Amino acid sequence: MANQLFARKSIDKLSADAFSEGAHNLKRTLGPGNLIALGVGAIIGTGIFVLTGSAAAQYTGPAIVLAFILAGLGCAFAGLCYAEFASMIPIAGSAYTYGYATLGEFVAWIIGWDLILEYLFGAATVAVGWSGYVVSFLRDFGINIPPQWSNAVGVEMVQDPETGAWTRITEQLITNFAEKGIDISTLPHATGMFNLVATIAIALVTVLLVIGMSESAKFNNIAVLIKVGVVILFIMAGANYLFGHRAEAATNWTPFIPENKGGFGEYGWSGIIRAAGVIFFAYIGFDAVSTTAQEAKNPQKDMPIGILGSLVICTILYILVSGILTAMVHYSQLNVAEPIAIGIEKTGYTFLRDLIKIGAIAGLSSVMLVMLMSQPRIFYTMSKDGLLPPIFGKLHPKFKTPHVSTILTGAICAVVAGAFSVDELGHLVSIGTLLAFVIVCAGVWYLRVKEPNRPRPFKTPLVPLVPILGILVCLGMMAGLPAETWYRLLGWMAIGIIIYFVYGKKHSVIRKENNL
Ligand code: ALA
Repeated sequence: MANQLFARKSIDKLSADAFSEGAHNLKRTLGPGNLIALGVGAIIGTGIFVLTGSAAAQYTGPAIVLAFILAGLGCAFAGLCYAEFASMIPIAGSAYTYGYATLGEFVAWIIGWDLILEYLFGAATVAVGWSGYVVSFLRDFGINIPPQWSNAVGVEMVQDPETGAWTRITEQLITNFAEKGIDISTLPHATGMFNLVATIAIALVTVLLVIGMSESAKFNNIAVLIKVGVVILFIMAGANYLFGHRAEAATNWTPFIPENKGGFGEYGWSGIIRAAGVIFFAYIGFDAVSTTAQEAKNPQKDMPIGILGSLVICTILYILVSGILTAMVHYSQLNVAEPIAIGIEKTGYTFLRDLIKIGAIAGLSSVMLVMLMSQPRIFYTMSKDGLLPPIFGKLHPKFKTPHVSTILTGAICAVVAGAFSVDELGHLVSIGTLLAFVIVCAGVWYLRVKEPNRPRPFKTPLVPLVPILGILVCLGMMAGLPAETWYRLLGWMAIGIIIYFVYGKKHSVIRKENNL
């Protein structure tokens, strides 16, 4: 029984498959620059544009910088492990394929099922963030999207009399209005029906992906340039402001780690751990580079460059942005939907505010693009292995894209994005991705012991120290997330295990080949 469940794929066969040419192969169009851009395209998004402010306000104060360093460290360890696998097994399935080659079919299925949380649910989360920015941007121009159709099912909101913005009712909101002498029962109310704006975002991205890889890569390159430009603009404008306002910066940064208020995660060191788990979302995406291995021109050399290059660039930008933002604006004022725009307003360059929103909208579009490109490629690989029905493995005869699974992914994602809120989705995406990272780190270590002499174009340094640190830091961040997130993860995994035993186990190609 155990052997049957843990049937492994041969790495030699995987590599041979990856390089065999033929009508059914994906087109190899991506160079190292495209791969770094894809990584940055997947990484910079809701995390830095939205979550930085609320995490600083609720959990850490200025020490959000330390949370970014901690989460970045966990990603660096995991990224080094991803790079070893991606250069050794350059095939589209990412962590799923690495699992198949090392820990066997059952673990591979578990990872593949888990990656749906990262990519499909991740894209849905970002679509919800995108809808928030689009609604806010249009409002600046007097166009008001009905709140019922731009928020998740059942979300209760009130309209701010000053800005006209519709905001979800929370304890904090009630207190804030009470301090201004406003009773929220006197304000206009609305209840979310379905987030149609988020659904439209997913539909548009899906169409782009069906048309083709190089068109999508071109769009992605432009979007990445805009959003990185906007982030750098923020850093420069912010640094310039701080040079002229050093005393203000010093006051905002004191104390750097506000004292813990009693509960886990309420400032102090536990706040940094909780915030690291939450803003870990900001780093998700560098691993998406590995899912395009079969479309890379020279995957063995360029995969590590794409993964590690994009991670390094984003870590530096995040540390600078979060440090500058908390020095400019006191953290207690940052629990808003557009913290970066609030920071820019402080500089007096208000005209930059809408530019920042445009940058965020472009940025979030490219995150959705990469995530929705990665998911069908994982489904494609799983279908080729017989673990999912053959329909997921069909390629478009002209565009050579996995169009059926792209459309199926887009359709499910559009519904999820319309129905759920950013909070419900975001934590689940973080915990699911952290689990995948833990398994990848364990896999690198395992394979080093099991097959020490296998050629590795890129070697993770200091094995087993780096994988062990990766496992510990990622588990630590998972532990910092709330209990209900854990229950959701377990529920999702239970569904996956049932599907494996009902479908995958019976149709597995490798099991048939080995007469298991
Ligand atoms: N890292 C991506 C974001 O922040 C998922 O939106």
